Amino acid sequence: MPCTIILGTQWGDEGKGKVIDFLTDAADVVVRYQGGGNAGHTVEVGKDKFVLHLVPSGALRDDKACVIGNGVVVDPPELLKEIKDLEDKGRNMTGRLFVSDLAHVTLPYHRTLDKYAEDRLEKSRKIGTTGRGIGPTYADKFGRTGIRMGDLLDEKVFTEKVRRNLAEKNTLFRDFYKAAEMTEDGILEEYRSYIPRIRGFITDTVALLRDFRAKGKRILMEGAQGTLLDVDFGTYPFVTTSNPTAGGACTGTGLPPNSIDRIVGVTKAYTTRVGGGPLPTLLPPEEEVDLRNEGKEFGATTGRPRSCGWFDAMVVRRAAAINGLTELAVTKLDVLDKLPKIKVCTGYRFGGELLAEFPNRLEILEKCEPVYEEFPGWEEDTTGVRQWNKLPASARSYLEAIEKMVGVRISLVTVGPERDAAITR
Ligand code: GDP
Ligand code: IMO
Ligand code: MG
Repeated sequence: MPCTIILGTQWGDEGKGKVIDFLTDAADVVVRYQGGGNAGHTVEVGKDKFVLHLVPSGALRDDKACVIGNGVVVDPPELLKEIKDLEDKGRNMTGRLFVSDLAHVTLPYHRTLDKYAEDRLEKSRKIGTTGRGIGPTYADKFGRTGIRMGDLLDEKVFTEKVRRNLAEKNTLFRDFYKAAEMTEDGILEEYRSYIPRIRGFITDTVALLRDFRAKGKRILMEGAQGTLLDVDFGTYPFVTTSNPTAGGACTGTGLPPNSIDRIVGVTKAYTTRVGGGPLPTLLPPEEEVDLRNEGKEFGATTGRPRSCGWFDAMVVRRAAAINGLTELAVTKLDVLDKLPKIKVCTGYRFGGELLAEFPNRLEILEKCEPVYEEFPGWEEDTTGVRQWNKLPASARSYLEAIEKMVGVRISLVTVGPERDAAITR
């Protein structure tokens, strides 16, 4: 049975959570493949609003299996809190949530290092991380000193690894950051207390997913962040420390590339970004404030205001190519309802010339001038629309123009945060 990847095409917060929840209706399993508690995926079901950080967005449908893949970094207290919050709202996770024994563990020293590294940077160079210890956890993973979820199950192994790592981190804290050291006893005691509650969720998810696939289960692979935050293809160094792009779905789950036949790129009808780094289509301050308020563009994880700009076809074209998108899901169309005119960036001008490619060098991207095409707004409420041909003609023209510029068909449009506010084309 084929697998579907659902990922972000911009700088994150495209509305992936809502699209995944919607598409989970026709799936059996949802697996998160990268990132960690930095993600904030919002799903509204009736009066309940859920913000998921680690647990896949399929969790809100009771009969679906949820897998946290090997490519994810897991902070155990955060995961336990999320499971409890879900169970308090009537979503049972026991027996249907599976956490990879290969997923790396975020420890308190990772969160502290994340903060110290940010504090040290001068203002214009700050990444504006979510402070969840993501970069330092992945740095240990790739430095081959990381601790994995499976290690939590063996007290001796876990204790030894924490001891070894902390010796190194404490040198950094003491000598480089001139800060207090951390004690190993505190960490060990805290983490030991999580083990009884977390043990039952940890398993070999690579084998589990292989078996699900062999049984013909329909699998959704959930990306966090977005293509332009990818550590390889994003606006480095203003990126996250993982591969949210399609390749990450294979390395982060153990599902092979030839199991995938559908790749859905979630795209906001405009563009937002939170944290450091350039946003080429950034709106002038007053218009930006209006769009931010209309779209409620405040971070789901950190509450920070998101920078807002026009739809950028250069960005989404790059995402289409890198991810091999087979379709687009355009979200938050309703946020543009009141605007008399809407702009789309069709290309970048640099030094008087039109660029053929999205610039890889940040120094160039920062100096690019977007070239815009203007579209008439529809100035109509779209929140109640559930059929493509009932959308206002100007809204359809806008979407068709995006489709043409990106070169990928739009299969889904969303017009509100609620579960049913979606138009399948
Ligand atoms: P994610 O990280 O990609 O899952 O996106 P977030 O949850 O961080 O941000 C998307 C926000 O937009 C959330 O508050 C959603 O409830 C909201 N949202 C999703 N789709 C729509 C939509 O079609 N219209 C409106 N108005 N809000 C939406
Ligand atoms: P979802 O899955 C938007 C941004 C941070 C920062 C940079 C690095 O909800 O779309 P990190 O904590 O990952 O080291 O921060 O990446 N960032 C996100 N921006 N949505 C996210 O996730 C993000 N996760 C990280 O703001 O600029
Ligand atoms: Mg988010």
